[in-house]
Amino acid sequence: THTYETILVETRGRVGWITLNRPEALNALNSQVMHDIVAAASAFDADPRIGAIVVTGSERAFAAGADIKEMESKTGLDMVMDDHFGGWARFAAVRTPVIAAVSGYALGGGCELAMMCDIILAADSAKFGQPEINLGVIPGMGGTQRLVRAVGYYKAAELVLTGRLMGAEEAERAGLVSRVVPAAELLDEAGKVAETIAAKSLPSVYAAKATLDAALESTLAEGLRLEKHAFAALFDTADQKEGMAAFREKRSPDFQNR
Ligand code: CAA
Repeated sequence: THTYETILVETRGRVGWITLNRPEALNALNSQVMHDIVAAASAFDADPRIGAIVVTGSERAFAAGADIKEMESKTGLDMVMDDHFGGWARFAAVRTPVIAAVSGYALGGGCELAMMCDIILAADSAKFGQPEINLGVIPGMGGTQRLVRAVGYYKAAELVLTGRLMGAEEAERAGLVSRVVPAAELLDEAGKVAETIAAKSLPSVYAAKATLDAALESTLAEGLRLEKHAFAALFDTADQKEGMAAFREKRSPDFQNR
């Protein structure tokens, strides 16, 4: 297996685990982290034995943002020419469901990385925010767009304009977090959610993620058209026949595509 500089990668059953590992910088996301996460997530995505991915950090920090020290001396032209955060689009485009297991700080790019995932589980210790305004900049990895979609305009505007951090409970109330769990149970719980997803039929899981994504990007009419086609296409899978037969026969389905 491949080894990475800034992350730990592990396969447990049908779940791929990516753990950010720059403790000296609270998992700040420099270019190497971006390359490592994109490479690891893409490899899991290409492997049909993997049905879900978990991304996590340390107890103290999921990620405290993009790496400020790496960015400090850059010019606007540099940011454009090396498309500084461009690689993250490949992570966001992974078709396998990704669960962010967030403990401690998820700030700036850390919060934005969590929002590229499909499910955000938060330890009760988690702190979310987009503090870029305190650095004289703005969110640059999707925060202004994804936070508005996650929590609505007014909550997002307050967070982005003031740089205020919010705790896990507030983040859950606001709709940024799928569920809050006690810090000690975060990884177990993330593993359980991931295993639950990984036990389903992959074509239906891919279709569910793709159509859910469309809800954030398209009009209602477009999204409903996509859903209609994706729904119909699943009726040509053996797993649909198996899933519905299993229901009728009152037993668990034995899916082939997982
Ligand atoms: N980039 C680079 N290094 C970082 C970092 C970051 N985003 N966040 C923390 N670190 C480093 C610190 O510099 C420090 O390193 P040294 O020991 O070498 O000084 C180490 O991690 C530990 O951090 P602190 O000593 O600051 O720890 P703390 O507990 O006192 O504070 C914190 C924790 C409140 C999270 C504080 O570290 C902090 O405010 N970090 C920056 C948060 C931030 O502004 N994030 C947004 C970044 S910009 C961005 O993300 C752009 C975008 O949209 C993509």
